[in-house]
Amino acid sequence: MKTLLKVEDLSVDVGSTRILKGLNLSVDRGEVILLLGPNGSGKSTFLHTLIGDPRYKPASGRIIFDGADVSQLPMVDRIKLGLSLGFQFPPKIRGVTLRFLAEKILEKRGLTRSEAGRLIEKYSHILNLDYLLDKDLYVGYSGGEIKRAELMLTLLQAPRLLILDEPTSSLDVLTQKYLLKFLLDLHQKTGQTMLFITHDLAAIAEIADRTAIMYLGDIVEAGPTEEIFYNPRHPYTIALLNSIPSITGKVEDVHPLPGPVPDPVNPPPGCPYHPRCPFSFDKCKSKKPSRFYFDHDKFVACHRFETK
Ligand SMILES: Nc1ncnc2c1ncn2[C@@H]1O[C@H](COP(=O)(O)OP(=O)(O)OP(=O)(O)O)[C@@H](O)[C@H]1O
Ligand code: SF4
Ligand SMILES: [Mg+2]
Repeated sequence: MKTLLKVEDLSVDVGSTRILKGLNLSVDRGEVILLLGPNGSGKSTFLHTLIGDPRYKPASGRIIFDGADVSQLPMVDRIKLGLSLGFQFPPKIRGVTLRFLAEKILEKRGLTRSEAGRLIEKYSHILNLDYLLDKDLYVGYSGGEIKRAELMLTLLQAPRLLILDEPTSSLDVLTQKYLLKFLLDLHQKTGQTMLFITHDLAAIAEIADRTAIMYLGDIVEAGPTEEIFYNPRHPYTIALLNSIPSITGKVEDVHPLPGPVPDPVNPPPGCPYHPRCPFSFDKCKSKKPSRFYFDHDKFVACHRFETK
């Protein structure tokens, strides 16, 4: 079976606010998919819902992993199936070393001590963590070291779908590049399937097969990365890509998107992007656009395409 993950019409409420609104996405085996979208658009909520975080229960919709409906499965059972978010250190942890945590993970996977030792050496070397293996966690760990250590523990879990929430944030530019190259190599050598969030557009261009753009709790455009970059269709995607020269240029040249910043508590009626959209017309203010498919894996949710 080609499809590893299929998300169908997934909606999630936090309190009385609908954070995810009928989201659809599929991930094929061996694919790398990146999620992009403004702060607060629901990206992290989506990933946490996938892994069964008890804070986020689907109000409707289904999550199918490897052919089985896991929507109601507890987190521990999803981990056993290979559906888990990147390892995250608990906020307070003392008297434990990285090697200890790594050994525990590999013991659970049934590896012998010597196999575990070899794997730990390999990954700690690749991620430049050898010097930290036997040091108490957090005693002298920088933000970047924590990120790399978390990635190492994630990879030792051998997830079938590697899900990462902003893996390169808080890393210096060189380490970001190195880590991305590492993920790319890993993907090319092992065919590792990946789904991750980043705000780094260069990273997406380099390693993602497909890109999905989120806005106010739904995916508004998705498709092969090249298509999204060279032929963006949704006005938010166009605005986002147009902002790249401003990001690399002078601060004075940076222009925020016009209109109000999206608020999930008071979402606008109709198309969620209409208060900011330069192409908005009457219908946009009252009717939410449905997905218009150009191909089975390529769609945009915008009335301009629906009406063609
Ligand atoms: N546990 C929670 N309790 C209250 N509100 C929440 C909770 N989780 C998410 N939200 C709200 O849901 C919305 C989406 O948040 P989420 O963290 O998924 O956004 P994001 O796209 O990951 O943003 P960022 O790029 O800033 O990480 C936000 O308005 C956030 O405040
Ligand atoms: S549906 Fe209308 S408001 Fe929404 S993105 Fe398309 S043109 Fe703009
Ligand atoms: Mg987030």
